[in-house]
Amino acid sequence: MPDTTTAVEEVSEAQIAVHWKEEEYYRPPAKFVGQANLTDPSVTERFSLDKFPECFKEYADMLTWDQYWHTTLDTSNAPFWKWFVGGKLNACFNCVDRHLTRYQNKAALIFVPEPEEERPEIITYRELWQRVNEVAAMLREFAGLKTGDRVTLHLPMVPELPITMLACARLGVIHSEVFGGFSGEACGVRIADSGSRVLITIDGYYRNGKLIDHKANADIAVRMAEQNGQKVDKVLVWRRLGKQSATATPMIGGRDYDLRDVMKEFAGQKVAPVSMPAEAPLFLMYTSGTTGKPKGCQHSTGGYLSYVAGTSKYIQDIHPEDVYWCMADIGWITGHSYIVYGPLALAATSLIFEGVPVYPDAGRPWRIAERLNVNIFHTSPTAIRMLRKAGPDEPGKYKYHFKHMTTVGEPIEPDVWRWYYTVVGKGEAVIVDTWWQTENGGFLCSTKPALDPMKPGSAGPAVPGIFPVILDENGDEVPAGSGRAGNICIRNPWPGIFQTIWGDPDRYVNTYYRKYAKNKDSKDWRDWPYFCNDGAMQAADGYYRILGRIDDVINVAGHRLGTKELESACLTVEEVTEAAVVPVVDQVRGRVPEIYITVKPGVQPSKAIEEKVVRVIETSIGKIARPKEVRIVPDMPKTRSGKIMRRVLAAISNSMDVGDVTTLANPEVVEQIRVSVQGKAKVEQKTGPEDIRKFGQER
Ligand code: PRX
Repeated sequence: MPDTTTAVEEVSEAQIAVHWKEEEYYRPPAKFVGQANLTDPSVTERFSLDKFPECFKEYADMLTWDQYWHTTLDTSNAPFWKWFVGGKLNACFNCVDRHLTRYQNKAALIFVPEPEEERPEIITYRELWQRVNEVAAMLREFAGLKTGDRVTLHLPMVPELPITMLACARLGVIHSEVFGGFSGEACGVRIADSGSRVLITIDGYYRNGKLIDHKANADIAVRMAEQNGQKVDKVLVWRRLGKQSATATPMIGGRDYDLRDVMKEFAGQKVAPVSMPAEAPLFLMYTSGTTGKPKGCQHSTGGYLSYVAGTSKYIQDIHPEDVYWCMADIGWITGHSYIVYGPLALAATSLIFEGVPVYPDAGRPWRIAERLNVNIFHTSPTAIRMLRKAGPDEPGKYKYHFKHMTTVGEPIEPDVWRWYYTVVGKGEAVIVDTWWQTENGGFLCSTKPALDPMKPGSAGPAVPGIFPVILDENGDEVPAGSGRAGNICIRNPWPGIFQTIWGDPDRYVNTYYRKYAKNKDSKDWRDWPYFCNDGAMQAADGYYRILGRIDDVINVAGHRLGTKELESACLTVEEVTEAAVVPVVDQVRGRVPEIYITVKPGVQPSKAIEEKVVRVIETSIGKIARPKEVRIVPDMPKTRSGKIMRRVLAAISNSMDVGDVTTLANPEVVEQIRVSVQGKAKVEQKTGPEDIRKFGQER
């Protein structure tokens, strides 16, 4: 509820004029257009609103169905959408088996280990099929998993990750992969939420030149899951190295199993793919929300796979002959959709890189691209900024040629876009800036690479079949070209949209549909715009510019962190009484969290407490959430009703104007905190970016 007695005067999103320079267009290179999958401008007509939802048949027809569907979109239980109802298919069959006749000897996956002296491992479609069958047999017979069970994977970027995912899909077992860099505790919470009784992990992996002991996380995860009411019966451990072990953590008898031994029994075994209803869940992907608990986004089999196949073909321009490298991690939705399911559904060669982009130096990605003849490259603005900083001239030293490049995960600054285009792409590659979210399954906005001109910093128009609208707080449309921002929503459902939040359908409706639902009893999709939680504006040419999250979610290097999640972790430190997390602009990672805490009476502020807070964040969430600073303050700025004003702290951390604070319960503390952060002299106050200006405001 807005605190009307004390709230600092608020300006609605749509009243804020956003001033940004119109950038010039870049045309897609003729060579790219000459070979592109989507060159027919009639696509706009084929996917027009009056052809909805039947237009999506074009994507579903890219798959092989065991049984064709009878209803394209069933809205009878809106907003729980059902796509391709009556249809049956198997996702693993579509990504592997069906390619064997034409492509069995072609590389499906190429694994590039981080140590450069270890050679890339090439896995053909035939070999992938055999390995997936063996793992499926093991999951069914040894782990006792059956259709509809959930299984948690806590795996880094190794080939066993997509192989295990596909083996689950073969059986109709719902996989829930937790990003390998997440801590054991974060994994345990997700195990419990999904109700998994099997955890699949690995002993270790390489990152930044170090062999990381990953098995240690499994023990913590199992303990954490048990504390949250879920017993884990089996921990299955893949092995990263040949004969040696990559972990010093002991195996626990009767619970932990070395898959190198277990798999011997399943060599050469085959398992028939289970024909699944289109609406059966394929996987869960946890993401951060405004409140503490991560949300398990449930994605479907038929709708999801159709959508990622369609967008991989038209937007990523993937052909079976391409060598495609998405440098994201499979532990995030980008990796699920655009390393594994999309590219493999199209019989492409998809590269998996274990390491970090700038190790051992900023030339590494370009050496990989040259050696393996990569022609499609997909990464995030954070990686691009990092590579530019560490080696601005490196790309020019290597003889690779990209036809297509993607940026995803956060807004890209036009200047960074131009470096990507000119230096990384050598002016030969088309760029797509794809905007979407974990919940969405696949792209929402992007240029159609051979058809639309590119505009640095803009995600472009909506992709085929997606109809966005920008609404203000009252639900009125903010028109294109008005120079005003608002809340971007999607008018219509689409096949890739998630089905629900695992175990919490009310939260699904409340978070994504309640705000703008026109009639809560309606069974008409037109009454249920999907609320994205992003601020955006639309230029006169129809291109969308995404301004960032409008909820209290911090986008760190393209990864979503819930502030509440971080704050609850801080409160587990004994000395801490209150914690507030705010985003700070960072040159490389976009945004990073900064933490304000108060300590218990009688406790002396100290470096040791700050370090404890950093450690607890690393162990409860992971290194990715490591704060830039932990600041111990005498008190938090608060409203008279006692609410911490994170907005004021965010302004201080970013040298922005704190606005009028006279109505707060303790206005004097604001200046004290400002001085302790910025020093005595008044620093020049900046206006700051939209997401930070709006951070922490009641809405
Ligand atoms: O704020 C938007 C930003 O990332 C959020 C979604 O994060 P996540 O669910 O982790 O998915 C990331 C990969 C799909 C969005 O709400 N975002 C994503 N892509 C872009 C973006 N912001 C601007 N431009 C983009 N291309």
